[in-house]
Amino acid sequence: MLGDMIPFRIIGNLYFVGTYGASSHMIDTGKGLILIDAGYEETADVVIESLETLGYDVKDVKYILISHGHDDHSDGVPKLVARSGAKVFMHEADNRYLKGFLPDVYLKDGDTVRLGNTEILCLHTPGHTAGVMSFFFNVTDGESTYRAGMFGGAGVNQLKKAYLDKKGMLPLSWRADYLASLERLRGERVEVFVGNHSWNNRTREKFEQMQADPTVNPFINRDEWGIFLDKCEAKLENMIETESRETFVNYAHRGASEYMPENTFLSFYNGIAMGANGIETDVRRTADGKLILFHDSTLERVTDGQGRVDEHTYAELMSLNVEKNGFYDKIVTLEEFLQRFAFRELTFAIELKGAGVEEETAELLRKYGMEKKTFVTSFNLEYIRKFKEYAPEFRVGYLTKEIDGELLSELRALGVDELCPKASEITPEKVRAWHRAGFNVRAWGVDSEETMRRVYDSGANGMTVNFPDKLTEYIKNAVGGRE
Ligand code: G3P
Ligand code: CA
Repeated sequence: MLGDMIPFRIIGNLYFVGTYGASSHMIDTGKGLILIDAGYEETADVVIESLETLGYDVKDVKYILISHGHDDHSDGVPKLVARSGAKVFMHEADNRYLKGFLPDVYLKDGDTVRLGNTEILCLHTPGHTAGVMSFFFNVTDGESTYRAGMFGGAGVNQLKKAYLDKKGMLPLSWRADYLASLERLRGERVEVFVGNHSWNNRTREKFEQMQADPTVNPFINRDEWGIFLDKCEAKLENMIETESRETFVNYAHRGASEYMPENTFLSFYNGIAMGANGIETDVRRTADGKLILFHDSTLERVTDGQGRVDEHTYAELMSLNVEKNGFYDKIVTLEEFLQRFAFRELTFAIELKGAGVEEETAELLRKYGMEKKTFVTSFNLEYIRKFKEYAPEFRVGYLTKEIDGELLSELRALGVDELCPKASEITPEKVRAWHRAGFNVRAWGVDSEETMRRVYDSGANGMTVNFPDKLTEYIKNAVGGRE
């Protein structure tokens, strides 16, 4: 809201010149002014007026430091620079958000910005965005000097999967970056906590306290910084936990394969009818190059045919029946599957079963607009690597039995967003640790109702299950279930 805060001196040469929704701070260095954050485009005039109200002139702003590139911190820059000619400092990773300008100076971790009596230490603390910078500097008030500090990007709602999807399939690993940044920030001593949103440090309430009793400055508080960082951590964990319940995916594994011929329309439709909100299926190639949905490399277990799948043409395979419990259906191609299901509000786990299907699978998924509703998975890291090369905009998951720290680092480097552990390996403690490491957690190998319940209760984000009806029922009755 325009002009909804009265500009005021926080302490010494540090002033608040922003709005409730978009904080801006000014430091009078004696040799010109430094502005931290520019606010929205439409609130840049409030910053200019606030400076004037305090007896300053926007022309004296020499440097503008941007904590991160979101619009509420950076969009005011062009207007403020037009009036001041100030140099703009920001981390390069956030250029993607900027409208109508580029920074003059790219900040890096550990940089120091000096002007007049002020030296600002700039720490790269990514998470909220990839380019978040946090700022630390001394403020002198009378005889006393205090260390002031700002965490440049504390909000966790921007780390929800839906938000990251919307903003360009940004990596879930930013959550791990955020936690690492909190750890780093805990190492800084802060006596005056500067909020980059007014609700972070209760700017307005403290201003009112100062008005009521000018003898006490509530901004001087040696505990507030640590308490705030702890709250940030708790909020992130709470967000991840809530998300895992609200968006939990009950994937019909090869459809409702406990009851129907697996990986057929009969199985997929039954899965949906049983309340599954996701479908898992397997992609492999026929001898004549068609992508079909089939789990095994050979035909015997589920069809009336014999031999290797990849040694049969599509026409030959179409003459076979897939059977389960006396029900029969035909093998389905990936494209036929996408024609029937891509438009539905479902999440898809598309497993790459054979080598050499990566590029064509990517093209088909792209053709049907599957980016925001799919995890492409495999037990084979090489298939994932290749798929990601062809389609970096898709989220990928790794199916595995064994997980250690080395694997997590490798997966992160490959841009893998989902960890798919065997259901028997899952515990609430491990799920929490994997979430904190920046992964979605989706289990496979759910072989009993007891395991199904355990996986759901562990806080995982989803599971593939042959009997989605039982999972639907369990979720419905679980505390905080979907219905
Ligand atoms: O959830 C993935 C699961 O399908 C992996 O096992 O043998 O069914 O492909 P599998
Ligand atoms: Ca599978």
